[in-house]
Amino acid sequence: MSSFKPLVFSGVQPTGNLHLGNYLGAIKKFVALQETSECIYCVVDLHSLTAQLVHQDLAEQTRSITAAFLASGIDPMKHIVFNQSRVMQHAELAWIFNCVARIGWMNRMTQFKDKAGKDRENASLGLLAYPSLMAADILVYRATHVPVGEDQKQHLELTRDIAQKFNNDFSPRIADLGVGVEMRIGEETVHGFFPLTEPVIGGPAARIMSLRDGSKKMSKSDPSDLSRINLTDDADTISKKIRKAKTDPAALPSEADGLEGRPEAENLVGIYAGLADVTAEAVLKEFGGRQFSEFKPALADLAVEKLAPIAGEMRRISADQAYVDAVLRDGGERAGAKAEATMKTVREIIGLLGN
Ligand code: TYM
Repeated sequence: MSSFKPLVFSGVQPTGNLHLGNYLGAIKKFVALQETSECIYCVVDLHSLTAQLVHQDLAEQTRSITAAFLASGIDPMKHIVFNQSRVMQHAELAWIFNCVARIGWMNRMTQFKDKAGKDRENASLGLLAYPSLMAADILVYRATHVPVGEDQKQHLELTRDIAQKFNNDFSPRIADLGVGVEMRIGEETVHGFFPLTEPVIGGPAARIMSLRDGSKKMSKSDPSDLSRINLTDDADTISKKIRKAKTDPAALPSEADGLEGRPEAENLVGIYAGLADVTAEAVLKEFGGRQFSEFKPALADLAVEKLAPIAGEMRRISADQAYVDAVLRDGGERAGAKAEATMKTVREIIGLLGN
């Protein structure tokens, strides 16, 4: 029996400006993984409808995230870059997963609870079923690895639960058709049609916090623009935001243990480490004992050095809309062929007469 071929999939929503959290937590990893694996990167436009159905500039936002992918170094020829709604098989598999997953699983998702707030009855059904579409994004390619920030961990656990339930519920059909693949789960060897996908989370930048409040994650939806560094911010804006970032009065510690209970300090050290591609320990080795008045200018210089070229490339690429659209069209065609191959087997496993 064969085993799953390593394949990386990840997605980013076209809502608001991309910020440093998206870049360090996700996109920088997307770029690195291209060296070792086949990768599919998706602008998940259908997901963005769960928060807001009517967007004035959804198409523009979709192009802008695509430009950010390309400007950061994702190669759309060697790998695949496309927008989700072009490949309707995502929605088809999401429907099937809506029938596999349980309402209780969805109700437990912290992101649903946060986004729905107190008035859950009035949240869209799409917001509740969001993780089912996310599982479909990943599993329609039978992807094995998903690079994301820490906030997506629970959704990826649910993706594994959905894959496992589908594999169990249909195990006789999967065996009859001979479409199962062997997987090692700890000590056990199991068979299934869908892989149990591994999250790729970690490093010093898996959860970048707000620059104004070290207990809140950096987010597109924070009303204060000072809370985040946008990928499109110019050098002066980046420096100003870092200068104004909340800190405490103590000097930086020399060891990582000394960051405990100091969320703002920990966050700025994590940002430095993420940008410089080193560990938090290495940053503290260099800056331990120094005041923020010295550390912040060094961080601002590093952030400008790393981010300004990306912003410049984004502007250049965005000016050529025909090119961006061609990348998405071509990526959509290649992704669509792969997704359809999976769905042909899924329809056969279930007994849907669509092939
Ligand atoms: P989204 O669009 O909110 O965020 C895109 C990526 O950025 C990461 N991220 C962060 N990482 C570190 N610190 C932060 N403050 C921070 N904020 C955001 C996110 O973890 C994410 O990796 N549900 C997903 C999109 C999605 C998806 C998928 C991802 C849809 N289908 C399939 C992977 C696989 C989301 O809303 O990400």
